[in-house]
Amino acid sequence: MIIKRLLLILALLPMMAVAQTENLWLDFKTLEEPFVFGFSSKNATFEALKKELYWNIPNFYTAKKLEQASFQVVDNSNNSAISGDGFVINADEKKVKIEAKTSAGALYGVYEYLRLYSGGTKVIKDYVSNPAYKYRILNHWDNPDGSVERGYAGKSIWFDGGKIHFRSDIETYARANASIGINGTVIDNVNADPKVLSTEMLRDIKTVADRLRPYNIKVYLAVNFSSPAALGGLKTSDPLDQDVVKWWNDKCNEIYKLIPDFGGFLVKANSEGLPGPMDFGRTHADGANMLAKALKPHGGIVMWRAFVYNPQGGDRAKQAYDEFMPLDGKFDDNVIIQVKNGPVDFQPREPFSPLFGGLKKTPIMPELQITQEYLGYSDHLCFLATMWKEFLDYPVNNKETVKQTTQYHPFTAIAGVANTGTMKNWCGYVMAQSNWYAFGRLAWNPDITAQQIADEWIALTLTSDKSAAAKISDMMMKSREAVTDYMTPLGLHHLMGWSDHWGPEPWCDIPGAREDWMPRYYHKAADDGLGFNRSSSGSNAVEQYQEPLKSLYDNPKLCPKEYVLWFHHLPWNYVFDNGNTLWNELCYHYTKGVSQVEDFQKTWASLKGKVSDPIYNDVAKKLEVQLDEAQWWRDGCLLYFQTFSKMELPFTPKYTFDQCKAKLKTKEYVARQKD
Ligand code: GCU
Repeated sequence: MIIKRLLLILALLPMMAVAQTENLWLDFKTLEEPFVFGFSSKNATFEALKKELYWNIPNFYTAKKLEQASFQVVDNSNNSAISGDGFVINADEKKVKIEAKTSAGALYGVYEYLRLYSGGTKVIKDYVSNPAYKYRILNHWDNPDGSVERGYAGKSIWFDGGKIHFRSDIETYARANASIGINGTVIDNVNADPKVLSTEMLRDIKTVADRLRPYNIKVYLAVNFSSPAALGGLKTSDPLDQDVVKWWNDKCNEIYKLIPDFGGFLVKANSEGLPGPMDFGRTHADGANMLAKALKPHGGIVMWRAFVYNPQGGDRAKQAYDEFMPLDGKFDDNVIIQVKNGPVDFQPREPFSPLFGGLKKTPIMPELQITQEYLGYSDHLCFLATMWKEFLDYPVNNKETVKQTTQYHPFTAIAGVANTGTMKNWCGYVMAQSNWYAFGRLAWNPDITAQQIADEWIALTLTSDKSAAAKISDMMMKSREAVTDYMTPLGLHHLMGWSDHWGPEPWCDIPGAREDWMPRYYHKAADDGLGFNRSSSGSNAVEQYQEPLKSLYDNPKLCPKEYVLWFHHLPWNYVFDNGNTLWNELCYHYTKGVSQVEDFQKTWASLKGKVSDPIYNDVAKKLEVQLDEAQWWRDGCLLYFQTFSKMELPFTPKYTFDQCKAKLKTKEYVARQKD
């Protein structure tokens, strides 16, 4: 026993020695009670959960018989309260029982117990927890060459040089995901390289699947719709062509021979220049169903994205709805439509996509963005749980919330675009780890509050000092609103820098570029005012919403102020209920966002000694960057809008308009993204 334990400790040494931030939220509190353990099963998942317990108890003993154990973990429960991979925990200082119906459920139960125990809860009675979404999936936008689209934490954790090359500590990734219930990962970019389906690559992907399997994480692939032609050498990729059908069937057979529990495909088709069924005069349903049929015998699914728009299609915010609503009910039962939370693109604030509540006969899954493409990269503190809660809890009509519209069918799923990379701390910023954590927690249980998630994460990652934790959680809870204020308040959107989406560039003008990629398409700043008229007198996007929202959004007096410039073009001297003109209100929000970051800095300064020095210094440095960029956003946007409003600024800007433009070219951020 002692020798076995020593060997295990030696094997685990590198993992145990890592600094806290590399270990994510996995530094659970050591169990003080002398429990004797008993397990109902012997399999790889039980080995994983045993290891997790073993690391967290000074003396690990197992009982000869399960009944003799004071800490029992079972996966053969007949407790009717448990569904899917859910679990029930009963515990006190003398006895712990974690019951599940699956080994994965037992693993999730162990993590929940460790989390509760770490938070000081030792007595737990009939604690039932079942997952709200069946598929809880990370989407990595990683390319075979090792780059990560919209990644701000180094290179890919999966690929390098055209091949699979995963992080040596990939087990930390698996544990972190399992600890928050994530059960799937799409390892490659939605802008998919056909090469991911090559035989050589699939053989290597099998090794990834093998590493993740004990933690109940399935591997999925984003696939390029023209793979039959691009990779297979076929003349066409038309989904109704029999050779194409055969190619996909054969490919699926090949995949499942290597990876029997392969999850399925994610597809971005006829979107932003990518190929798709419409290239052959077919529909999204034709394309999705053809793939669905190839996967069906193996139990795989298709996640078909609704992120579609083209420059000729009128108001971009309306296009996905217009394209997908006529197809409602036309998809096979293993297809789910993946829809971004907002109708445009992961902006700091958007109204929800009206496809939620619109699509009734087709399962629909939210796509959230964990990586902060539009929210300050991995440099700005921006806790996203508040944004995702706002979205999931938003009422689509008088009866249902967005969350409820994702639960019409038994096939439920949710995806988050990952923020991981090769940087030691995985996410490029310790505070950005909280968003990965929050995604998993909400995917399991969208009813928990953002506050609870923040509190749990802080306790597991930053500090156990209660008053310090309260201050940090206050910062986190205010952070997304602060970012929205200094970037895109009042429903403004898409004001960011061309292409890399860094910094403000509402003035952007690229000769010959698509108009719907230009900020001016969205803000419509002019001498007569600001904002996109999507009301019934404009593009009529309001028509896609159900009552009472349709009427509320249509009327600038009733429209929630946070969306007013999304739906209306208002004169600069438009007066809000609080007496402020549009210009004053705009200035108020931009300056409020900046002063909020100044407050974060003050709060953080009071926490020296309450968190570890490296974390303290890292956050302090990042907050300096955030403040500077918040000032840049405020000044750049307001100085540009001022050229139309001709109104006074109620503060002294830090930057001149020319400096704001010049700063965009410095690409300082590149230097900060180094591994
Ligand atoms: C955004 C993002 C792209 C990404 C696309 C998508 O447009 O900037 O990098 O490919 O969304 O979600 O498909």
